[in-house]
Amino acid sequence: MTSGGNTIIRSVCKGVGSFLPRTVVTNNDLSKRVETSDEWIRKRTGISERRIAEDDETTVFMATQAAKNALEHSGLNGADIDGVIVATTTPDNTFPAVAVSVQSNIGAQHGPAFDVQAACCGFVYALSTADSMLKSGLAKRFLVIGAERFSSLLNWEDRTTCVLFGDGAGAIILEADENGTGDNSDRGILSCHLHADGTLRNLLYTDGGAGTTKSAGHVVMEGQDVFRHAITFMSDIVVETLDANGIEASEIDWLVPHQANIRIIEATAKKLDMDMSQVVVTVDKHGNTSAASIPLALDVAVKDGRIKPGQLLLFEALGGGLTWGGALLRF
Ligand code: UT7
Repeated sequence: MTSGGNTIIRSVCKGVGSFLPRTVVTNNDLSKRVETSDEWIRKRTGISERRIAEDDETTVFMATQAAKNALEHSGLNGADIDGVIVATTTPDNTFPAVAVSVQSNIGAQHGPAFDVQAACCGFVYALSTADSMLKSGLAKRFLVIGAERFSSLLNWEDRTTCVLFGDGAGAIILEADENGTGDNSDRGILSCHLHADGTLRNLLYTDGGAGTTKSAGHVVMEGQDVFRHAITFMSDIVVETLDANGIEASEIDWLVPHQANIRIIEATAKKLDMDMSQVVVTVDKHGNTSAASIPLALDVAVKDGRIKPGQLLLFEALGGGLTWGGALLRF
């Protein structure tokens, strides 16, 4: 459809999928490795268990499984996909990108395939990138994946970080739909909002990399500082996203937040005056799966029937960088 002579393209969700590694690690399991307790982890984070990948469950493997699951959900084939973006901090190899392996594994041999690295905010960055490319006509269907084997980056002797994270992958298929009207009743991505403040890069990082130590390094986090910034930036981003679309918080059907800590999620919901029954929470079962957390949560709530076509979803995330962002999607 055209509006004022211009075609309005919307990136519409055609399917979602996910994959979780088979091994469940409980808080009690971790209390045998480091000085911690089930009570501390639950109370401070809301996490009760997480999945940790076995050797055969690489990032490419998990991303591919999530992609196949999303293709099945959409009724599309790999050959229908003409762009793949994987948000990840934990690629199997420094290069080539995880996305090119996924592309070949699903039989999609054309169009761009690349990774995006924005730590825990990676999925929102990848979603926004795909949305821009679809709107510019560069591709018709993008597969956007968040996949992390974050356990590989953990120092298993550091109780302040090793209890927080988990592994997994989630995927969404976006299709360019030229029938947008331009108002927020359209299905698809209505807006994306991305930010970074590199002066805060020392709050959450790995102490290594190919360019320095020649190995990936381990996660180091100033937990309290990241927590403080997360509370502020998550509140700011939801306000920015709502304002950009001229909508009230009461019009949001589901908040699908990055799953780092239940206390951060609750604070954002409170800011929106949303009941926690409208918030998708998976942090209890998945822990923080970094770039995979939003698409994993989305898949859970779509497949259990909570999220329905036509509903308005708000995504928001914050990660190392610091990077943060939000997106509004009419499902
Ligand atoms: O996804 C990217 C974004 N990441 C985040 O958003 C994470 C943000 N940060 C957080 O979620 C929280 O800051 C944490 C969960 C990391 C920590 O919670 P906190 O309430 O800020 O705890 P704290 O760091 O202030 O530590 C409180 C106490 C300390 O002991 P003292 O100094 O009071 O004696 C810690 O040493 O808890 C201790 N502690 C632990 N105790 C048992 C820290 N980790 C543990 C642990 N088990 N695993």
